Amino acid sequence: MKIISIVGARPEFIQSSSVSRALRPRHQEILVHTGQHYDYQMSQAFFDELEIPPPDYNLEVGSGQHGQQTAQILARLEEVLLAEQPDLVIIRGDTNSTLAGALAASKLHIPLAHIEAGERSYDRRMPEEINRVVSDSIADMHFCVSQAAISNLAREGVSNCVHWVGDVMYDAMIFNRPIAYRNSSVVENLGLTRNGYALVTVHRAANTDDPARLSQIVNILNHAPEPVIFPAHPRTRKALTHLGAAFAEHVRVIDPVSYFDMIVLEDNARLIATDSGGVQREAYFLSKPCLTLRDETEWTETVTAGWNRLMPLDLATVLDAWQHFTPPAEQPPIFGEGKAGERIGQLIEEIMC
Ligand code: UD1
Ligand code: UDP
Repeated sequence: MKIISIVGARPEFIQSSSVSRALRPRHQEILVHTGQHYDYQMSQAFFDELEIPPPDYNLEVGSGQHGQQTAQILARLEEVLLAEQPDLVIIRGDTNSTLAGALAASKLHIPLAHIEAGERSYDRRMPEEINRVVSDSIADMHFCVSQAAISNLAREGVSNCVHWVGDVMYDAMIFNRPIAYRNSSVVENLGLTRNGYALVTVHRAANTDDPARLSQIVNILNHAPEPVIFPAHPRTRKALTHLGAAFAEHVRVIDPVSYFDMIVLEDNARLIATDSGGVQREAYFLSKPCLTLRDETEWTETVTAGWNRLMPLDLATVLDAWQHFTPPAEQPPIFGEGKAGERIGQLIEEIMC
């Protein structure tokens, strides 16, 4: 089979690796990088560490408004699909690269598989929610991380070719954690100690594009009761600069870190506070208490399990949770057992061959 895999943003590079490992021995996988993320630390760093083969195509779309970025990916991808005539297109997650991939493939009647299908925040102001709903409605195969995703799809009338597979991000964590420890010295370099700091990431439009919310996040971090390490997404760095944000001495805003450094930073943190979908799940994989700086989450099972708490941006509420949140001892195996990539490979063969 000839399979085109589409990636474009940081989490998609990580998500692609275990599926590629399952597919490449028996099939031709053509990797298309849309170029949505392009800084070294947002893109090439992941290819280097995860030993992802260089993309066969880089569409080099770069940043832009949603319509412009999605349209450029769509137009350039259509050319690639017409030239390559693949048997299957794989998209993942909920980015503009995902949406454009879904539209390009389905308009050309090429079978389309969506990894991480069915996740919903039920907040249509989130650009990612639109990307998810549209992609799922036109995908032919839906590979779901959680049982909640299967129920979400059923509510929208999508029940054909829906499969629970677990989380490819969990596959990546299991595979890469030991390698990360062999390669990363981030904890020593930053002078940190195990459980001696909190790790924070923020990049959602709802937090970065709203000066009131972003100021409140800065205020909360400035009142945090322990050192804070904050690797800032370029979008967030720009918004912080625009805001003229001033941080207390215990808050260290650093550049985005590599995946290996991120795993080690997460694994040594006492607590994680984030608005990232991937980081919420990684907190769960690594048994770290997680405060989600949003009003809702797609990853509701982590909240139900007692390991993740949604945080209204109220200083007293967040600080209280920051100091007193203690998750239960038990952790249900929500995300599978690290074999999602293998399962996806097998299912694709059963469905297609
Ligand atoms: C995108 C996804 C989001 C995902 C995130 C992962 C959409 C709608 N959103 O959000 O779901 O969680 O990726 O990180 O697709 N920028 C750089 N260098 C880069 C990339 C981005 O400077 O390499 C800056 C640009 O100013 C750009 C901004 O970040 O305008 C936002 O980038 P974009 O890819 O549009 O959205 P993300 O916020 O990264
Ligand atoms: N990540 C990273 N370096 C960073 C911040 C995040 O390697 O400085 C990783 C993180 O471990 C996770 C993924 O990027 O695997 C999450 O991406 P992001 O938060 O950008 O997007 P989301 O998951 O919210 O779509």
